Amino acid sequence: MMVNDRITILGAGTIGMSWAALYLATGRQVTLYDPAADIESKILSFIDSAKASLTALGWEHAGSSARLIFDCNPESAVQGAQFIQESIPERLELKHQLYQTIEPYLTEGTVVATSTSGLQLSQLQLGFNNPAPLILAHPFNPPHLIPLVEVMGNAKTSETLLKDAEHFYQSIGKQTIRLKREIPGHIANRLQAALWRESIHLLKEGVASLEDIDKAVAYGPGLRWATLGPNSLFHLGGGEAGIGGFFHHLAVPFQSWMDDLGSPNLDTETIELLTRSMAQLNQKTSSEEMRQRRDQLLVEFLQSVQALDCR
Ligand SMILES: NC(=O)c1ccc[n+]([C@@H]2O[C@H](COP(=O)([O-])OP(=O)(O)OC[C@H]3O[C@@H](n4cnc5c(N)ncnc54)[C@H](O)[C@@H]3O)[C@@H](O)[C@H]2O)c1
Repeated sequence: MMVNDRITILGAGTIGMSWAALYLATGRQVTLYDPAADIESKILSFIDSAKASLTALGWEHAGSSARLIFDCNPESAVQGAQFIQESIPERLELKHQLYQTIEPYLTEGTVVATSTSGLQLSQLQLGFNNPAPLILAHPFNPPHLIPLVEVMGNAKTSETLLKDAEHFYQSIGKQTIRLKREIPGHIANRLQAALWRESIHLLKEGVASLEDIDKAVAYGPGLRWATLGPNSLFHLGGGEAGIGGFFHHLAVPFQSWMDDLGSPNLDTETIELLTRSMAQLNQKTSSEEMRQRRDQLLVEFLQSVQALDCR
C-alpha cells in the first residue's frame, strides 16, 4: 500500500480543492469535509478542470473521483486518516475550534498539515492539547501544480512526523523547504510582498502601466527566477568572478536602488487604482484567458524540469 493512502482534506476552497485534485491524481483515497452547501459540485468540476494539467504531468489517476468521499462531519472525516491537510479560512479561532473537534479522533502517527499562509505555528498549536502532529505545510496556489511547500515544526512538533511529511510531499513531486523559525508570511510570501510592494509603488508613481509592470516581471526576472532563484542568478551575473564579481560591479548601484524603493500602503485609494488598472487589462485579456495561460505554461515548464532532472 502506498504511503498515506488515506488522506483527509479539511476545507476545500481554492487551496483544499487543488490539494484534493492532486492527491486523487496520485491514486489516494481522499475524504473531504467542508460545510459549504455546493461543495460536491464545485469539487467535481475542479477535478475535471485540473485533469488535463495533471495528466500532462504524468499522474495516472488525474481526473478520477472514484476514491473521493464526502463526509459531513469532521470527527468521522479524520477517523482512519493517515494524513490530514487543513485548508480552512485564515482565522485563528476557526482553526482552533476545528483542531479541538478533531483531536480526540486522530490516529497516532497521523500528520495534521496546515496550509496557513500567515498564521504562526505557535499560535495554531494552542488549539491542541498535544500539538505534536501539527505541522506547517504552506503551498503556493495552485498546489496541484506549483511544487513549493514551506514546511516547519518547532520544539513541540514530532520531528519524525515532520520528516515523514517532507518525504511524502517529495514523493508526489513537491519541493519542500524548511523554515528554521517562524516569521509572519513565512518565506515565499515575504519575497512576493517585497516585489509586489515595489510594483504598486511604480504604478502609483506613474512609472508604467500595470500591464507593463507585469510584463517586466514575466518576461525578465520572473523567467530567470523560475530556473534558479535570485542569489544563484546574481552569482552567474558576476561572470567568472561569481557573486564577488557581481558585488564589485553592482553593489553600489543596487544599494542605491534598494534605498530608493517605495513603501505604499494598501489603502482604499491604492486598492481602487489597482482594481481599475486590472479592469483595463481585463478588457484585453479575460481572467479565464489568464488562468489558461498560467496553467498551460506552468505545465510545460514543469514537464521540462521533470525531463531535465531525469537525465
Ligand atoms: N488562496 C491562496 O492563494 C492561498 C495560498 C496558500 C495557502 N492558503 C491558505 O489556505 C487556507 C485556505 O485558503 P483558501 O484561499 O483556500 O480559502 P477559501 O475561502 O477559498 O476556502 C476555505 C474553505 O473552507 C471551508 N470551511 C469554512 N469553515 C470550515 C470548517 N470549520 N471546516 C471545514 N471547512 C471549512 C469553506 O467552506 C471554504 O470552502 C488558508 O489558511 C490560507 O491562508 C491560501
